[in-house]
Amino acid sequence: MELTEERKKELETIYQTFLHDEKILKMKEISMHRGSNCYIHSFKVAKLAIKRALRHKRGDLYVILLGSILHDYYLYDWRNDHSKMKHHMGSHPYTAAQNAMRDFNISPKIKKVIESHMWPVNFKEFPKTKEARIISNADKTIYLREIVCSKRYKKKREQKYLAEISTLF
Ligand SMILES: [Fe+2]
Ligand SMILES: [Fe+2]
Repeated sequence: MELTEERKKELETIYQTFLHDEKILKMKEISMHRGSNCYIHSFKVAKLAIKRALRHKRGDLYVILLGSILHDYYLYDWRNDHSKMKHHMGSHPYTAAQNAMRDFNISPKIKKVIESHMWPVNFKEFPKTKEARIISNADKTIYLREIVCSKRYKKKREQKYLAEISTLF
């Protein structure tokens, strides 16, 4: 899919607005794997999902962009919260979708995309739309890339990640 300069600018502006949003910045406090955190992880997923959608000429880019940025917007650290730990895998997509509706008034389509990103771990939520499948797959790719990194150079890696996600294109 060839994007016009105008459309590219439009998507970049949305991306930058979310990147600097103070509610979204809270995701930085939620640690993830090997130098990553929920904020870095979500923008990495967004970049990869948009890249794949453009390559395969598929999907609504606005839905993909918001769906990826907000797919893990659950806003708690399950590692420090024993009550959340047990059910995190299955329940965090619903929490993220509820938070995203409350804070960003997302469409029902984006809500569904968020709720189904953990398929097949959460087997009853099959990603039915192209956008949902692109995000669910991009999430798994980024997750795998994060966990295969060595534990060394964690701080350095975080700086590198932050530089990588600083722009969408
Ligand atoms: Fe997730
Ligand atoms: Fe994720």
